[in-house]
Amino acid sequence: MNLKNATIYDIAKYAKTSTATVSRVLSNSDYPVSDELKQRVLDAAKKLNYTPNLVGRQLKTKETSDIAVIIPNISNPFYPSIVLGVEDVAREKGYNVLLCDSYRNPQLENAYLQSMVEKQVKGIIISSISQNNKTFMQLVEKDLNIVAFDQDVTFPCNKITFDFEDGGFLAVEHLIMLGHKKIALIGAPINRPSRKSIYDGYLKALKKYNIKFNKEYVLLNELEKEFHNEIYEYKNGIELAKRFLQLDDRPTAIFAINDLTAIGVIQGLKSHGVRVPEDISVVGFDNIFISEMVQPALTTVDQPQYEMGKLAANL
Ligand code: RIB
Repeated sequence: MNLKNATIYDIAKYAKTSTATVSRVLSNSDYPVSDELKQRVLDAAKKLNYTPNLVGRQLKTKETSDIAVIIPNISNPFYPSIVLGVEDVAREKGYNVLLCDSYRNPQLENAYLQSMVEKQVKGIIISSISQNNKTFMQLVEKDLNIVAFDQDVTFPCNKITFDFEDGGFLAVEHLIMLGHKKIALIGAPINRPSRKSIYDGYLKALKKYNIKFNKEYVLLNELEKEFHNEIYEYKNGIELAKRFLQLDDRPTAIFAINDLTAIGVIQGLKSHGVRVPEDISVVGFDNIFISEMVQPALTTVDQPQYEMGKLAANL
């Protein structure tokens, strides 16, 4: 027999016992039930294809086993790699993962935060776009477990940090060691802690090797808008590559603020007959999995995304 939506009443009837006993067996309670009766209940549940009603259980116990991950946009492979790390740990420990894309929109991020609180998630792992401490402080006061990654935050919570400044420094130092003195920086607006630090690393490397800073070589888009059907950073790379090619005194190397931008830059240069690395060197940041699939494979700074996701989930 296979009931479409078998309930504990059906199981009790089938196993010839009470619903209280069925409930005790199915919830693994400590209440003593004989082995024979326990087996009868389990057999009945199997026979009737019983699926536990988690929503009902949650309403009773006021407990969920969900954790939320809020990221700017799943179209940048940097974030899914982090989510995989979160998911692998969560699954192992019996948690479900709810994924939210803020599309780099502070209002949407805020709406997701509120909705996750209403869903009574056990914790929130977030790359925050808003820096809105008021909302976060309210969550912290509610004892919600928050783990921030990617963007530094100032409210008290656990954090997965990365030395973006040193990463930027190493990328530019690498280009300098290859003999480059005219190095462009290409990216989205420097409006987030991670990007600010990468930019500082760029400046630091130039300074260390006595290379004069040229503001013409810093090509940033003023607009940043994510759509579901457009990969903003990739498109931005293509667009800024065109601007780069119009420079009178063109640099010999480009440091892109992240890999998606770098891949867009390479694409933009290629479409104008400029070869990478023969004519221009390009270095990215992140080491997303696509960086080894493109031609030529991209030189980049590794952020251990999967491991960072695992760490965040463990916290
Ligand atoms: O591509 C994503 C990475 O680049 C993240 O570290 C983010 O902060 C960015 O600037």
